[in-house]
Amino acid sequence: MKSILLANPKGGCGKTTLAVNLASYYARRGKTVALVDLDEQGSSMTWLARRPERHPEIAGWHATHGGKPPFNQVDVVVFDGPARIKSAKLEKAVAGAHVILIPVLPSLFDWDAVNRFLEIVSEMPAIRRGRKRLGIVANRLRSNTISSHDLKRALRKIEPPVVGNLSESQLYVRAGTRGLGIFDVAKSQSEHLRNQWRSLIRFVNKADGV
Ligand SMILES: Nc1ncnc2c1ncn2[C@@H]1O[C@H](COP(=O)(O)OP(=O)(O)O)[C@@H](O)[C@H]1O
Ligand SMILES: [Mg+2]
Repeated sequence: MKSILLANPKGGCGKTTLAVNLASYYARRGKTVALVDLDEQGSSMTWLARRPERHPEIAGWHATHGGKPPFNQVDVVVFDGPARIKSAKLEKAVAGAHVILIPVLPSLFDWDAVNRFLEIVSEMPAIRRGRKRLGIVANRLRSNTISSHDLKRALRKIEPPVVGNLSESQLYVRAGTRGLGIFDVAKSQSEHLRNQWRSLIRFVNKADGV
């Protein structure tokens, strides 16, 4: 089993969007997949409830509601992190994940929040042991905007590495409202976006688990 955590205490950076797209990517690749929602708001569970039956199945668990996960062994578990995360909760989620992806928006305000978050995460024992794959995903990039350039320049110098650069696209929104990811949408519409996921998926696939 491989577990992937989307984390960043800042809301709106793309945790749910990345979580549901990763879950549907692996489901489409024939893997058994579970999506675990660690956020009170339950956005990824809303997404899952809208997912049409004819698309590859994904198991779901809204963990903040308690109880036990309604699935056993699966190939991939994707954890959608909460907007505000207390240290203990964060530490538990980080300790259990093979891969931690941190979505970041192209604004300096967001960048400060991420730096603070990275400081906390880097002090955690599970991270200090160095066995986790930690990566930043620049999200909602718009070509030729100053903030996207600024973000890319700032990210070049930092650790952990940037493992994906994803464009701003209404296709994420349109697909999402139907319980779909971009990999569920016709290639003719989604190919340019799918290509941007290659490096990210390669990074995830190289981690332990599966
Ligand atoms: N790459 C993207 N292109 C367009 N809209 C996006 C993209 N990523 C996220 N969004 C939108 O931004 C909003 C916040 O994203 P979301 O994934 O819910 O963030 P979080 O889970 O971190 O709060 C949502 O309305 C989502 O549809
Ligand atoms: Mg969310």
